Amino acid sequence: ATRVAPRITVIGTGYLGATHAAAMAELGFEVLGLDVVPEKVELLSRGRVPMYEPGLEELLRRHAAGVEGSTGRLRFTTSWREVADFGDVHFVCVNTPQRHGEYACDMSYVDAAIDSLAPLLERPALVVGKSTVPVGSAARLADRLRELAPAGPGVELAWNPEFLREGFAVEDTLHPDRVVIGVEPGGRAEELLRRVYATPIAEGSPFVVTDRPTAELVKTAANAFLATKISFINAMAEVCEAADGDVVRLAEAIGHDDRIGAKFLRAGIGFGGGCLPKDIRAFMARAGELGVDQALTFLREVDSVNMRRRAHMVELTRQAVGGSILGTRIGVLGAAFKPDSDDVRDSPALNIAGQLHLQGAQVTVHDPKATENARRLFPTLTYAGSAEEAVRGADVVLHLTEWREYRELDPAALGEAVAHRRMLDGRNTLDPEVWRKAGWTYRALGRPTV
Ligand code: UGA
Repeated sequence: ATRVAPRITVIGTGYLGATHAAAMAELGFEVLGLDVVPEKVELLSRGRVPMYEPGLEELLRRHAAGVEGSTGRLRFTTSWREVADFGDVHFVCVNTPQRHGEYACDMSYVDAAIDSLAPLLERPALVVGKSTVPVGSAARLADRLRELAPAGPGVELAWNPEFLREGFAVEDTLHPDRVVIGVEPGGRAEELLRRVYATPIAEGSPFVVTDRPTAELVKTAANAFLATKISFINAMAEVCEAADGDVVRLAEAIGHDDRIGAKFLRAGIGFGGGCLPKDIRAFMARAGELGVDQALTFLREVDSVNMRRRAHMVELTRQAVGGSILGTRIGVLGAAFKPDSDDVRDSPALNIAGQLHLQGAQVTVHDPKATENARRLFPTLTYAGSAEEAVRGADVVLHLTEWREYRELDPAALGEAVAHRRMLDGRNTLDPEVWRKAGWTYRALGRPTV
């Protein structure tokens, strides 16, 4: 018998949801995406992506029903009724941001999604959580689903964490390092998800089937490990700086050992974004609730090392301009939390620019993609349309997000625009030799001053 392909819905259309929906359509599924914000639904339907994510708009335009010549496999709606009627598999991709003034994350979007969908589920369906949540959430949400859904025990809940990186969302979704699913024994979830992923996605990617708490934990553990790796190398940068060592050479040298690995050892102003910082905090909060807070006290250190990077960059800037920030002009290259993204959530770059502004400097910021988002978050900073404009008359220039275009800057030409040729490289990606040759005082975190 021919099996009909499961029909897929994707709830929440941020980085995760929009990419997942487009990728599922690319694999041939009929997909319905839901967002509670009508403007987003309208944009996405017309094949427009409301954020900067390389390759995503092309993928979306190939399938969005509102785009002429598309496959039409991908539609968007604000209607829960439509989602419940359409889908066999519902992926929950909403945000779990940090709660204001607390370590724990805010589960209200996930809870609201389940509460909106469940009462409309009249036939068997599989709900699949992809959001990053505190361990134990899946079991709680499964109880809630069964209590509210007319289809009762016909509704199952599985956990399928997502590991995509912003800037590489499409690539990571279509070619993941692994697919992890957490299921209850005896249900249909595994078989259904194998069908969803028995596509080019899973070809060559390990498929890990486990229980739900483990699946939830895999995600938080992976992000905690990555954050720890970055803070480890940044701690080494602190020591290098005190001992006249070079953290870039050190990272390269230890990275040759494959047990350590060369990736995620870039020392600099540290990690930011919507994931790593809030995920390690939420993980600590959850461990506390589980009575094992000691298991994760090291993450408190990981967080402190990371936050010290920002303070240290502000301090180096103060030293560079001769002891007082007040009244100086500072050119800042980069606002996004990392290159190839327009995301400024908990961005170290913007945080440093903001601190300097609050200490009385005249700060001008450039970013190739994130200016609009940065302006919304920090309207009192000055924003420039080009790197040259940002550094005009500057007493010191700070390189804070390692966009490719900054590596390609001509230090000699840029030197004509500034008041003083002082470069502080917060990302260790500019070539010290080149800048020094062009008459700049180049200083980087964790490297000898020469
Ligand atoms: C991170 C994880 O890498 C993804 O696997 C995960 O799916 C995602 O969070 C998530 O939980 O949704 P992302 O936040 O997009 O992805 O960005 P990363 O590439 O991990 O970078 C995070 C931060 O670490 C950036 O601010 C970056 O500049 C910084 N970083 C990264 C360093 O300072 N040094 C490094 O060596 C690497």
